[in-house]
Amino acid sequence: MSRFPKDFLWGVACASYQCEGGWDADGKGPNIWDEFCHDTAHQHIKNGATGDVACDSYHRFREDVALMKAHNIRAYRFSVSWARVIPDGDGAVNEAGLKYYEDLVDELLANGIEPLVTLYHWDLPSALQDRGGWLNRDIVEAFGRYAGIFAGRMKGKVKKYMTLNEPQCAAAFGYGVGIHAPGWTVSEEKVARVYHHMCLAHSAAYRAVKAEAGEDVQVGVAPCGRLTYPEKDTPANREAAYKATFAMPADDWMFTFNIFLDSVCLKRYADDIPESVRRFAATVDPKDWDLMEAPDFIGVNVYNGKMVDETGAYVARYEGFPQTACRWPVTPEVMHYGPLQIGQRYGKPVYITENGQSCNDRIFLDGQVHDPDRIDFLHRYLLELSKAVGEGLDLRGYMQWSFLDNFEWNRGYDERFGIVYVDYRTGERIPKDSARWYAKVIETNGECL
Ligand code: BGC
Repeated sequence: MSRFPKDFLWGVACASYQCEGGWDADGKGPNIWDEFCHDTAHQHIKNGATGDVACDSYHRFREDVALMKAHNIRAYRFSVSWARVIPDGDGAVNEAGLKYYEDLVDELLANGIEPLVTLYHWDLPSALQDRGGWLNRDIVEAFGRYAGIFAGRMKGKVKKYMTLNEPQCAAAFGYGVGIHAPGWTVSEEKVARVYHHMCLAHSAAYRAVKAEAGEDVQVGVAPCGRLTYPEKDTPANREAAYKATFAMPADDWMFTFNIFLDSVCLKRYADDIPESVRRFAATVDPKDWDLMEAPDFIGVNVYNGKMVDETGAYVARYEGFPQTACRWPVTPEVMHYGPLQIGQRYGKPVYITENGQSCNDRIFLDGQVHDPDRIDFLHRYLLELSKAVGEGLDLRGYMQWSFLDNFEWNRGYDERFGIVYVDYRTGERIPKDSARWYAKVIETNGECL
């Protein structure tokens, strides 16, 4: 008997800048990733790659949707390019941009695939960055307005939204260490401000979507962060892992779930925030906490985690530990304990909104793309996820990352995360073995695992 609920939403995910291309098509405005990639004076991206064309999904989306349908996909989590809809972020609406997303949504619905829309997956309109980006509080209103405009247009069609994807990466990589756009390196106190504005922006968007599209529309968020899992399955070790997941040490607070989720769900900071965050917190207007909106669901992006022992100390990985092509550790157990920890702390339904691995995929002599590594990875993670469901996790869906190979941010096109191979020379799509394997998982609702 499959542990996955009967109406479980099996899907795939991608993000606008990573797959759309059409970077200046039909009135789209420039965004921070366009600029970051085009900044040839400082090559920020591996091999100087850009998302100018990427998978060209802007032009080929009907072909992509047909491929999804052919592989039993029930949901497509995609993100909206803010600058395609509102070129300067808070001014005039670009009708062609809205039309593109409406056509995509219609195509999905016509094929029985549910659209799950992420409103922000890191590609901020450049005009807003010029005014300070996430450091400027004006962004809260601009994001709320954009969310309302988009949701109003998709009323009756899109039933599930995520406001932000991984605010942790946008803040820590974009403003903390500067390896992602906009490539800024500001003080920790300012990074805390970025987070605060993201929490307020999420909340403004939450209200705007409900106001424009209806109260029954679900509005969630898709954060990420450090997840830890116990070495032994004992209550004490589970408790130690829970504490380690939500700890906020001074040298590792930015990449935590709670730096974002505590603010919007619990309307406060964790007790153990480091000094830099405490300094910022002291400047927050107490009325801001009344503006925070808890999401209707939490989308958890899961790739790997760290093991801790009963004292909460990290257990070192052994030599030759399994890893993916981009050298991320393969730790399926995190999929059992991590989502449970999130469900326990915040009491909200959970979706896995990303999970997958990069492989050194290539076309074999037989013309096919064989990716047993990815199948093994997904199989292991899904088996662990089913344990969490067996323990009562309110899990609604699972979105594999990613449907197509795509632009992997500062790593360019070197990392292939897709279950469908993309030949970037021609744009040709070739479903990998994992696509057929996943189709079977969906067909049997996880029974075949
Ligand atoms: C992001 C994706 C990214 C994936 C793999 C997540 O951090 O949301 O955009 O491609 O992980 O690195």
